[in-house]
Amino acid sequence: MSTEITTPQPTGLSKFMDRRSFLRTSAVSGAGVYLATSKGAIAQGEKAGRTIKCALVGCGAQGDRLRAAASQINSGIQWVAVADIREDKRRVMARYMELQNKHQVTGQVTQFETIEEMLDKQTDIEAVFIATPDFLHAPFSRLALSKGKSVYCEKMMSNTIEGARDMVKAGREFNGIFQIGHQRHSNPRYIHLRDKIIKKGLLGQVTHCYGQWNRGVSASKPIAPKNVKIDPALLTASGYSSIEEFFNWRWFAKYGGGPISDLGAHQIDMFNWMYETTPVSLFATGGVDYYDGAPGPDGSPKAKYELPDNVMCLYEYKLPQGTMRAYYQVLTTTGSQGYYEKHMGVAGSAIISESPTYNQVYAEPGNDWSEFAAGDNPILVKNPDSVKNKFWEHPRTWAKPPPKSFNVSGVAKAVADARESKALDPWEIPVILEVYPHAPHVQNFVEAVQQKSHAHLTCNVVDAFKSCVTVLKAYDCLKTGQKYTFTPADFEVA
Ligand SMILES: NC(=O)c1ccc[n+]([C@@H]2O[C@H](COP(=O)([O-])OP(=O)(O)OC[C@H]3O[C@@H](n4cnc5c(N)ncnc54)[C@H](O)[C@@H]3O)[C@@H](O)[C@H]2O)c1
Repeated sequence: MSTEITTPQPTGLSKFMDRRSFLRTSAVSGAGVYLATSKGAIAQGEKAGRTIKCALVGCGAQGDRLRAAASQINSGIQWVAVADIREDKRRVMARYMELQNKHQVTGQVTQFETIEEMLDKQTDIEAVFIATPDFLHAPFSRLALSKGKSVYCEKMMSNTIEGARDMVKAGREFNGIFQIGHQRHSNPRYIHLRDKIIKKGLLGQVTHCYGQWNRGVSASKPIAPKNVKIDPALLTASGYSSIEEFFNWRWFAKYGGGPISDLGAHQIDMFNWMYETTPVSLFATGGVDYYDGAPGPDGSPKAKYELPDNVMCLYEYKLPQGTMRAYYQVLTTTGSQGYYEKHMGVAGSAIISESPTYNQVYAEPGNDWSEFAAGDNPILVKNPDSVKNKFWEHPRTWAKPPPKSFNVSGVAKAVADARESKALDPWEIPVILEVYPHAPHVQNFVEAVQQKSHAHLTCNVVDAFKSCVTVLKAYDCLKTGQKYTFTPADFEVA
């Protein structure tokens, strides 16, 4: 296992997609250039390898996403068992596997209540996917590794730095293939942005990054445990204080890390991954400002959560080219502009998200990128000038009659006349992922298990640990109100 942040190896799938994943068919639609990926890429791109007998622990929302992503991989996986303390969840998951992943199932998928029982009784399991609440990741992955299994464990690695540290130690002790579920590491669009655009210097010196995950109240409401029966003794034995906390585990420190960990885990990780380093300092602020149990707009009490419902972080990185500052926010009271990351350099900027709507790269005035659009494998593609995706792509002409909101006088009018940047020149990343975003990451894991190669993993446990520390240290700032200065020891595991 590597001890440094490594340059992830593209999986067979992403290599294939880099080469062949797009068609330039600018005549096809009004959106200009369209980029299509063949779903058959999965089949053609993978190596013929032995089949790995896999089990899933945690049959909730993410467990199901992993199952669905795995269903797009034609060979290499055989589902043999599932475990969940909820009978309804494990039953439905086993059935889904038998029906929707039938090319990956022989006979029936065996169902277990606990991981302990599953690993004791079903001894042919070779790899375990863990998609339980975060506080179980460390003990469950240690248990599976100790029994000689390979492990794909969901992010966030753990709700505590100590838990994540123990996972690094368990990885070392038992030497199993151990992937953490930061799936952007295997996403060909992200790999393209990093390796072909940022590393090649198209953006010039990147001085700032920005990331956000904004989610409105409708998506942040507590989950009510309707008609779900779990034996209270089993719930207690599994570490839960109440059924309400079991359902809303993300918002309580005992089980999860709150929105900054749940959502920030993906995107703050991208600051580290894009620039292959870790930050030198962090300042963060946030709190439980809305979900405090007080009466809401309709008079009824709002949810009462323990972990901050909004956090804003400012990271400072020292890159070879100079200082880079990265701002991240997670908000749970507005869905404004969704989730994406932005990388801003003196020659250009890029905006990307797992959601393909954000896929633009902008040249600053004076940078001609036409040479990068040439040939069969262009680094960038151009939208026709008539296509404008975002408001900042529209040229500003002061000759045009101003909108009514500009009908002001005095100081405000003078401000409207101030110098503004020219409109940026919009380009697009020529890669589209038409499979589920987790599919390349699951495939990368399966290939690593087949090859018994730690180096093949795009997100090993050591790299993920550094991300976990980068994110969870925000809580130190929240406690002290002070800037946190990272030391090398923060990112090391003795
Ligand atoms: N990579 C991603 O994009 C992504 C997205 C969402 C969630 N996640 C991660 O996936 C994990 C699960 O999240 P989720 O949204 O599916 O949560 P969830 O609450 O929907 O599902 C959790 C499941 O685990 C089961 N479970 C709880 N305790 C258990 C135990 N002791 N033994 C066996 N099963 C147990 C629950 O019954 C439930 O079915 C979390 O770590 C989360 O951070 C990752």
